[in-house]
Amino acid sequence: MNIIISKTKDEASKKVAELFASDISGGVIKTVGLATGSTPLDFYKYLRAAQPDCQAITTVNLDEYVGLAANHDQSYSYFMHEHLFKDVAFAKHYLPDGLATDSAAECARYDEVLAENPIDWQLLGIGGNGHIGFNEPGAAFDGKTQRVQLTEATLAANARFFDSIEEVPTEAYSMGIGSILNSEKIVLLAFGEEKAAAIKAMIEGPMTNEVPATALQNHANVTVFLDEAAASLLTK
Ligand code: GLP
Repeated sequence: MNIIISKTKDEASKKVAELFASDISGGVIKTVGLATGSTPLDFYKYLRAAQPDCQAITTVNLDEYVGLAANHDQSYSYFMHEHLFKDVAFAKHYLPDGLATDSAAECARYDEVLAENPIDWQLLGIGGNGHIGFNEPGAAFDGKTQRVQLTEATLAANARFFDSIEEVPTEAYSMGIGSILNSEKIVLLAFGEEKAAAIKAMIEGPMTNEVPATALQNHANVTVFLDEAAASLLTK
């Protein structure tokens, strides 16, 4: 893993936007995997400002809440539209459908999307418990798209975006860890001291399903962008 530590989240996000622009400039990147959450917000802000040419690029998102329509203001589809897609033009967007009535068919459809659009560049955040996408502790490292139950810790962490914790969807569709590991290149961002323990476990800890992000230790091309707070527990 390449670890890049910046003083601030803003500085790190700017570097990620520069890396993205330089990686896509050669035209070899056809599909990017995108993530939601508060972590990539500044990265998206810099992309909106820089306006890289993404017209030939397809996007595939990691996850979506079960039960939320694409136009619900807390859906990940809405998040992507608001923070990126309405200002930067891409060729095509894919996200799981939170309103799908047949879960197995929806997971199979998304796996098909991933098979047809192999991810060249995958952006990731990380949960305080080490989750990636919505692959919670215990998730299999070779997993495909699944309908998953969110943990109490994740519900509590995501409650800040809703009026109350009762409104946070308890399930989501998530790309599996196996599909994430199929990406050619992975760029993981983590900011703030609340991510420091997960980052230490991901980088220095043993590989274990209990910390889903440790699966990345097996991948040949991972770059991790941290601010000083998220890097504060690293010892090596
Ligand atoms: C969410 C998302 C993840 C994200 C993580 C961290 O639940 N499913 O893709 O990386 O939790 O969120 P945040 O960036 O808001 O801390």
